[in-house]
Amino acid sequence: MWNKLVLLSVVALTFNYLALAYEPSPLQDFCVADSSSSVKVNGATCKNPMQVQAADFFFSGLHLRGNTSNQLGSKVTPVFATQLPGLNTLGISMVRIDYAPWGLNPPHTHPRATEILTVLEGTLQVGFVTSNPDNRFITKVLQKGDVFVFPVGLVHFQQNVGNGNAVVIAALSSQNPGAITIANAVFGANPSIPWDILARAFQVDKSVVDQLQAKF
Ligand SMILES: *[C@@H]1O[C@H](CO)[C@@H](O)[C@H](O)[C@H]1NC(C)=O
Repeated sequence: MWNKLVLLSVVALTFNYLALAYEPSPLQDFCVADSSSSVKVNGATCKNPMQVQAADFFFSGLHLRGNTSNQLGSKVTPVFATQLPGLNTLGISMVRIDYAPWGLNPPHTHPRATEILTVLEGTLQVGFVTSNPDNRFITKVLQKGDVFVFPVGLVHFQQNVGNGNAVVIAALSSQNPGAITIANAVFGANPSIPWDILARAFQVDKSVVDQLQAKF
C-alpha cells in the first residue's frame, strides 16, 4: 500500500515536472554553446568550462534602433543562444522590437516560449487569440512602462498606434523561442500549399489564394 502511494507520488511529480518545464533544467552551472561543434543535444553542446570567458555571457547592441524600413515597419533584434552562447540550456532569451509609426509586428506564434514585453517608448496595440473553439481576441493599448504577456503558443501581434516611433524589450522563456508568422507560413510556404486546400480552409476562390500566395 505504502509502496503504491510512493509510486503514485513519483508518477504525479514526474508529470508535474513535465508539465511545468518547457526546457530541461540545467545539470551544471552553465553550458556555453560551442559553435565549433556540429553535435546537437537538444540545444548546443557545451564549450569546455575552462575556456569560457565573460564574453560568452555578454551581448552588446540592444541600445541600437532596428531598421524599420520594410513592408511591415517593424524590426526584431534577437538575443537568443545564437547571439549569446551563454544562454544555451538556460531556457530564456530576449529581443528588442522597433516600430515605425503604424509599424506592425504581424500575427505570429512562438512554439516554444511565453513572451513578456515592456514598452520603453511609444504606444502599442497588442493582442492575442485563445485556442479553439473560443478563439477569443484579447487586446490592449499599452503605454511606456506597461507590461503584457503572450502565453506560449498563442497567435499574437503588436502595432504602433502612437505618433512617433515605439520600442519594446521582451523576454522569452526559451533560448530559441522559434517564430511562425501566420501569413508567411500559410501563404508563403515553400513549396506552396496546394491552392485548393487554402481555398477550402479560408472559404475563398482560387483568385484570392493566388493573390495572397503571390505576395509571400
Ligand atoms: C534600412 O533598410 C533599407 C531596406 O533594406 C535599406 O535600403 C537602408 O539602407 C537601411 N538603412 C540603414 C540605416 O541601414
